[in-house]
This record gives sequence, structure tokens and C-alpha cells, in this order.
Amino acid sequence: MHATPPLVTFDPDLGHAVLRTPNSVYTLRLGSDGSPRHLRWGAPLDDADLGATPDAVSRAASSFETEAAADELAPQTGARFGPAGLQVRFASGTRGAQWRFTGHTVEGGELRLRLDDRHHPLRTELCYRVRPGSDVVERWTELTHTGPADGPPDPITVDRLDSASWTAPPLADYRLSHLTGGWNSEFQLQRDRLPVAETVLTSRRGLTSHHANPWLALDDGTATEERGEVWSTALAWSGSWRVTVHRDPAGRTTWTGGFGHEGLSWTLRPGESLRTPVYAGLYTPHGFGAASRAWHEHVRRHVLPQPDRDRPVLYNSWEATGFDVDEAGQIRLAQRAARLGAELFVLDDGWFGTRRDDRSGLGDWTPRPEAFPRGLRPLADEVHRLGMDFGLWVEPEMVNRDSELYRAHPDWVIHSPRLDATELRNQLVLNFARPEVEAWAGETLDRLVRENAVDWFKWDANRAFTEAGWDGHPDPDRLWIDHTRAVHRVMDRLRAAHPGLRIEACAGGGGRVDLGILARTDQAWTSDNTDPVDRIGIHYGFGQLFPAQAMAAWVTDSPNTATGRRTPLRFRFHVAMAGALGLGGDLTAWSVEELAEAAELVAAYKGIRPLVQRGHLHRATTGGAVTAVHYAAPDDSEHVLLTWRPTTRFGHPPDPVRLPALDPGARYLDRDLKQVHSGAVLVRHGIDPRLPAGDYASSLIRLRRVES
Ligand code: GLA
Repeated sequence: MHATPPLVTFDPDLGHAVLRTPNSVYTLRLGSDGSPRHLRWGAPLDDADLGATPDAVSRAASSFETEAAADELAPQTGARFGPAGLQVRFASGTRGAQWRFTGHTVEGGELRLRLDDRHHPLRTELCYRVRPGSDVVERWTELTHTGPADGPPDPITVDRLDSASWTAPPLADYRLSHLTGGWNSEFQLQRDRLPVAETVLTSRRGLTSHHANPWLALDDGTATEERGEVWSTALAWSGSWRVTVHRDPAGRTTWTGGFGHEGLSWTLRPGESLRTPVYAGLYTPHGFGAASRAWHEHVRRHVLPQPDRDRPVLYNSWEATGFDVDEAGQIRLAQRAARLGAELFVLDDGWFGTRRDDRSGLGDWTPRPEAFPRGLRPLADEVHRLGMDFGLWVEPEMVNRDSELYRAHPDWVIHSPRLDATELRNQLVLNFARPEVEAWAGETLDRLVRENAVDWFKWDANRAFTEAGWDGHPDPDRLWIDHTRAVHRVMDRLRAAHPGLRIEACAGGGGRVDLGILARTDQAWTSDNTDPVDRIGIHYGFGQLFPAQAMAAWVTDSPNTATGRRTPLRFRFHVAMAGALGLGGDLTAWSVEELAEAAELVAAYKGIRPLVQRGHLHRATTGGAVTAVHYAAPDDSEHVLLTWRPTTRFGHPPDPVRLPALDPGARYLDRDLKQVHSGAVLVRHGIDPRLPAGDYASSLIRLRRVES
């Protein structure tokens, strides 16, 4: 029997590091100039085979070329002409570091390589972590000014500090998958041939952004849902970020990424350190589907705070009442929601300060007296009496000029006093990097929880940063890092103080969804667009990285407020049931039949919830314009298949949906038809999706493994 090889090894004589995961190996070695160089990231090899692998550290082809071996984090020195992951300036005006390797540590699955600059008091640690049973390699960087505190102040300016640079192996071609979008159209999957150029994916908004997400996947252009090698990375950061993918003319592809966008700089004084967020990487040999499942498992096991807790069926009043909220109206909705089976009632915008529209009140987190003369507690108590949890919308990072908070603290906002401040949605951003603002936010939210028995916050952020200055601060660009860190900290402290509290991440829909925010929230509001047809595509992109339990999806009214499209209630439900189901329509306008059907579908969702929220996701598209998602119990005991066909076309009946995740040797009972299918048939031929005729057709099929 072979002993399991250690997860991480480092051979100081060879300067050779090996990180092992179940389906991959990641290796690097110290180059002759002291810089760690990438060797290999891909399918596992044993030590003997690794030893026999030719060393990728080779010489440059001419005096005009860079060295062939890619850096683990490229400094701005030497014959390197690609995007540098570390860019520093010293007081003398010198740019760039030149490393000397000064030590390493290996502790469990964690490797740290220590590099000291040969000329200046600067140290960097390149950090790696692998965990048992996971194919994810987590990487980050720590940079320290090692000058003595009592020495000359000589600050070091950091123009770029990436978490990691990644390298794909030589492939016949390269294809890039990434996510783009906008408000109401987040998570659109793009899959294009990578140009021989530098391709920048970035957010300059202070938020992760609707427009790009710090996730990408690379393959050679032939990978499919079920087959092919895929290299994929995701940055755990909820503010501005930048990833530069470089396919060079010699055919090599590397990418480097981290927090902050171009043009920002941060200062390190003697003794100070800067630590980057984690940039996680994943190799899988089994296609895009397996890559997504491995990410979902990682997010469940190592990111989400409470992955095993069922995400509740929530009701949110925003699309029903907008800003027009009051105690009686919300109680009417809560009563209906409870009857449908909702487990959480969320009071959205409009409940506080002078807030009757988006022009005033943000920042004043006390109940609006005309709407809630007795405060929020009577509503919260009634919601609890109805058997639901009580949730509250907040937007703690924002302020309207027309608010008590702004009048008292105009200096708390992010602003450049010599520039006009751009207002978006009539609001400005509070500078959470200021300790007093962070403290105010923590206390305000804590008070709201205690006074109103709040079980859930929907934490929103409805605008990006602009004119982002910090008057009088010696290092004003720090706000781009410290604001985000403070948001994370306030969430962490709230959760620690109130272990039952849950938080939903929101930024005008899915404007801030990343592995950093999901480490302190339970789910994300995926998009303000609740149109079920649009949502099929949005969910497809979201699910490339994030699991279904983090994907909030509501059933709302028809016609849809965003698109005007009319769709049947069942179709709307079947689309929303693919994530964390919620209800968001005006239930007072739903007919008795609709309410009865909705109650039945909520109950059906609760029956499949463990599978959707904790099962393995398999995606399929088939002829006849059918899209399907299949959630499999990890032990193969139960399965659920949701299929959708938004438009029908004469002569194109839906093809069977193949279920490759099933066991061809087993038999499966269709729990509704009471029919037993052979696993081999379902795997190789597929199942009839049983779609009704006409547009907006959908179905839900439940299978149970049975003894033959
Ligand atoms: C954002 C959210 C919505 C809603 C409104 C309230 O747009 O994404 O769900 O909460 O704010 O103003």
C-alpha cells in the first residue's frame, strides 16, 4: 500500500516545492536569480515522474526575449516584459525588487517562501495552502518593510501587489471563460479564444462589480461540460481588482491578479506589512462541469460560514411595495407569505429615516415614524408569531446628502474636496476605512439586531466609488483596501456577536459576489432581474463558481417588472427552485388558484432543498432548446432534474436529457410516475424531460435509487 504523499514538500537543496491535491500537482522551483519560477500545474505525477520531467527553467531565445520560465509573482526587474505582479518604488526613485531566497516554512498544507530584496529593506512571502480532499490551491502574498522603526522613514510605495501569478501549461490553443454583465444582467458567461495580447479583467468601482467577476477559466478550446482539462482561478476580494491575462507571442499564457485597479498606490513605512486576499486556483481534468462542482465543494467546505444550514424560503417585499412600506401593509404580506410556506420575511428599503424614495434618509437607521409609529418591533414580533424569521434591508455604506447622518458628518464620505462629488442614485459612499465610520456602522447594525430581534440582514450597496479621495490622509488610496476590509470586519463581528444572524450579500443585485464576501454571508442576491428567462442565463454564469445554496432566486409577478414578459407561475417557480428559493411578488394581488399552486410548489421545493442546496450540480442542454440542471445527492440516493424550454419550435421536440452522473449499473425510480428506469438508459440515452406543449414549459423530475 502506498502512503499518501504529503500535501506540501519543499526541498531546500533543489529549491523545489511540490503541492499535491487529489487530482492535481503544482510545482515550482527557485530560479538562478532567487525568484520562484513556475514548473507545472496539472494532472498528478508521482515523485519519480516529476523528477524525470524536463525543467521548464530554460534560457531566453535571444537578447530580446524574456526567460522562458514564468514567475510565481513577477517583480519589475530583469528581462521580464509582461505584466508585473509586484511593482514597488523606493525613496531613491528605484523601481522593482531583486530577490534573494531567505527561507521557507511548511506547516500542514501551508508553504511560505521568504524572499528578501537584495538592495532594500523589503521582504515578501509567497504563501500557498492546500487542504485534504480539495483540488484548490490557495495563494496570497505578504509584503513587509523590514527597515527599523527607529531608522530613516524611507517609505516604500507599492504600485501593485498581486495575490498570485498563475501559469497554464503549453497548450495547442487557449480559450478564456469569464463573466461579464451589468445591472440586471449579471454573470453572463463569455467563452472566447484568448488573443495573443494582454487581456485585462477588472473592476474600478470599489465593488466586485456587475460588469466583471474575478473568476476565470482557461482550456485549450476543446473542453466541454464533461471532458477536458480546465484551469480556473477566483479572487476572494469584494472591492476593486485587476487580473491581467497574458498570452505571449511565444505561446505561453500566464495571468496575475489581486486587489486594486491600475493607478492606485499604497505606502509601506518601516515595520508595516500588506497582506493580499487569497487567490484560489483549481485544476480539473474533467471539464467545466467538474470544475464548477469542485469550486462548489470548496465554497461549501472552506468559504461559507454555515454551509449545512438550510437556506430559508424567504419573502421579500421590494417588488410588491417598493418604498411604500408601513406596518399594516407589511403584516398583510407577511400573513400571506407565511401561508405559502415562507420561513423568513424581509422588510426591504423605505422603513427608516425620511425615506419615501431614493432621495433622502440613507444613513438614518431608525424606523420612519409615519410608517412604523411603534417602531419595527411589533412587525418583527408578528413575523415571528407567524413562524417566520425577521429580515431587514440595510445599506450601511451609503448616505443621502439629505439625511441627519450627512448633516452631522459630511466629512465621513469618500470625497476629494477639490472635485465635485458625483451622486449616483442620489447617494454618496461612506468611507468605512475611517475607524469612526466602521465603529458607527458596527454599533448601528448591532443595535438594530438587538432592538428588533433581527434574524437576517440584506446588506445592500447601490453605487460605485467615484472621486475617491481621503482629505488629509497621508496614504489616501488605502481606502480602496481598507473600506472593503472594514465591511468584511463589520460583518464578521456582527456574526460573532449574534451567532444566529444571517446576512445576504447584495449590491444592486449581484454587484458584489466573490469568495471574500461569501466567507461572511450566507447567500447573495443574484440579480434585481427576476425575469425567469433572463435568470436561466444569469444562473448558468453564477453557477460556474458559486453553489446553488448561495444563489438567491425569487418568484415575482407576471408581467415581470424588468422585462414586461408574461410567464406561467410554474415556470417562474421551476427556475427559482434551482437556487435558494424566495418569493417577491405582490401576494395581495395573486388569485386563490395562484396562491394554492404557489403553496404546493414551495412545499415541493422544501422536499428537494437538501439536494439543490447541498447536492452536486450537473448542467445539460439538449436539442429542442431545453436547458436542464440535475442535482445529485453525493451518495447517489436521490436526484432532482429541473428542465426549462422558454420557446418552442415546430418540428423540434425536446431531446432526452442525458444524466451522466448516474450509476449505469443501478436502477432509479421516478417518484412521480412510479416508473423504474435503468441507470444505463438514463446515462447513455437520457430521460424524457416531460415538457408540456407551448412556450415557458418546465418540469421537475425526482429520481430515487432503488434496489434492482
Ligand atoms: C437594490 C437591491 C434591490 C432592492 C433595492 C432597494 O437595487 O438589489 O433588491 O433592495 O436596492 O432600494
